[in-house]
Amino acid sequence: MTNNKEVVLSGIRPTGNLHLGNYYGALGKFLKLQETHDCRFFIADLHALTTNTDPDALHRNVKGILAEYLAAGLDPEKASIFVQSDVPELSELYLLLNMHVGIGELMRTASFKDKARKALGLDKKDDENEDDIEKQIIGASTNKRVSAGLLTYPTLMAVDILAQKARWVPVGKDQMQHLELTRRFARRFNQFYGVEEFIEPENFEFRDAPVKVPGLDGSGKMGKSEGNCIYLIDEPKALRKKVMRAVTDEGPQAPNSPMSEPIANLFSLLELTSTPDVVKHFRDAYADCSIRYGDLKKQLAEDILNVTTPIRERVNDILADEAYMRRVLAQGAERARAQAAETLAEVRHIMGIRKI
Ligand code: ADP
Ligand code: TRP
Repeated sequence: MTNNKEVVLSGIRPTGNLHLGNYYGALGKFLKLQETHDCRFFIADLHALTTNTDPDALHRNVKGILAEYLAAGLDPEKASIFVQSDVPELSELYLLLNMHVGIGELMRTASFKDKARKALGLDKKDDENEDDIEKQIIGASTNKRVSAGLLTYPTLMAVDILAQKARWVPVGKDQMQHLELTRRFARRFNQFYGVEEFIEPENFEFRDAPVKVPGLDGSGKMGKSEGNCIYLIDEPKALRKKVMRAVTDEGPQAPNSPMSEPIANLFSLLELTSTPDVVKHFRDAYADCSIRYGDLKKQLAEDILNVTTPIRERVNDILADEAYMRRVLAQGAERARAQAAETLAEVRHIMGIRKI
């Protein structure tokens, strides 16, 4: 954590446990970046409030994500790890930045429209025209309202990033529009006041192709809303059961046949978790039609367990040590607050909030 390294920032909403998709898709990037950059990773509890209404679940999930991040290898000596609400400067910056954000541009954000539809209990229609959803939002009864907090989600995310003067933001594809808005808000603020206050951040990708972890249900990606996840904290028995139930086909009918999607997915998972010789063994068995999917699944379950077991075991130790978790978060918040307070003081001055 030195001053001349470029700043990397990323946050996750505490909405549930981490799964293999998160591990190979996102957390992997964080673990590599903490070795080379000035990294700040946080738990976006204020963002979770835009869709979560259960206080106890929120609190539990904050602890859960922290424990899983630490268990997977995020190192508080290398990266600052903090909870968003522990940095109150962000809330004031959010208020200030909102003065330069248009309601229209927020209403046109894809993630807002999706979540607003859900909040109103509407089905997503592919041919839906934009006016309809906007009319529905404005006309909605107060017990089915779409909150102002949900609308201004992108302002808060921009503030998370701009407050830390982050150059790189490792996020998944679904976050690209939010990042684009962040750049737009930064540019607008700088131009409006004729300053160079904010840095325009970019997504971070390593050069190797982005990983897409498939589900075990035959198609698509592993994801919380798909209900097809292998969680890092799954108990061995439950994990084995999930893998043994994975969708397969009737087996290769001729040597060197092409693979169906469910089988290709099993091999993708095997490639992520097993050694090259194990992968080769099963590829050869598939090619000469001697493969038994039951054996492949048994092997896959054990190899996944090799990855997840140390994490699962550490999670419980970490969860049991609240004093340690508090220390990590206090240290992370102190660093994040120092930077956020500096940015806030500059922004207040620029905008004319000055002492008489
Ligand atoms: P989910 O899709 O389960 O709700 P999130 O949206 O919370 O997961 O995921 C956080 C990040 O984890 C994403 O931005 C993405 O980078 C990564 N991720 C999630 N699922 C996968 C997957 N199946 N393969 C690769 N990366 C994934
Ligand atoms: N919106 C992000 C998500 O849903 C979480 C997030 C909030 C975030 N603030 C951020 C990510 C700042 C990166 C940087 O996954």
